[in-house]
Amino acid sequence: MNVPARVALVAALLPLCATQVPAAQPASAESRPVAGQSLYHRLGGYDALAAVTDDFIGRLAGDAKLKRFFVGLSDNSKGRVRQLVLDQLCFATGGPCVYIGRDMKTVHAGLHITEDDWSAASADLTATLERFKVGSREREEVFALLAKLKPDIVEGS
Ligand code: HEM
Repeated sequence: MNVPARVALVAALLPLCATQVPAAQPASAESRPVAGQSLYHRLGGYDALAAVTDDFIGRLAGDAKLKRFFVGLSDNSKGRVRQLVLDQLCFATGGPCVYIGRDMKTVHAGLHITEDDWSAASADLTATLERFKVGSREREEVFALLAKLKPDIVEGS
C-alpha cells in the first residue's frame, strides 16, 4: 500500500477506534446499556473495573478489621495482587482477560479469613459499588460471582 493510501486508511479507522475506548467510570443505573451485554460491558469495561478494583482494595487495606492482612506486603506485591484481582474480575464478568494467578484456595490458605472478615469485605465492596453508582442488577451479579469464591477464601465455610 502506498503512503497516501495508508494515511487514508488510518484516517478512516481512527473514529472506529475512538468509539471502542471504554468508559472511565462504571455505568450508572441511568446510563446502563441494553440488557444482554456481558456484565463486563455493563460495568463499563476495563478502565471502569480497574477503578472499582483500586477503590475496593484501598478500602480493604484501610479497613481496621482487614488491614492486618496487608501489612508487610511491598508496594510491588500490592500492585501484583491488584492486577490479579482485576484480571480475575475482568475474566469472571466476561471480559477479554485471562486470569493467570493462583487459585483462590491456594492463595488464601493459612490467612485464617473468617466470616466476620468476609462481611467486612462485603461492606467495603458495597461502598465501592455505591460510590460508582453501579446499578442494582449489576451489583447482584458481582456479589453472585464473589459468593462462588467464598468457600475457597473463608476458612471453614
Ligand atoms: C476478606 C477478604 C479477603 C482478604 C482478607 C484477602 C486477602 C488477600 C491477601 C493477603 C493476598 C496476598 C496473599 C499473598 O500474596 O501471599 C490476597 C491475594 C489475592 N486475592 Fe484475596 N483476599 C480477600 C478476598 C478476595 C476476593 C473476594 C478475591 C476475588 C476477587 C480475591 C482475590 C485475590 C487474588 C486474585 C489474589 C492474588 C493471587 C495470586 O497471588 O496468585 N481476594 N488476598
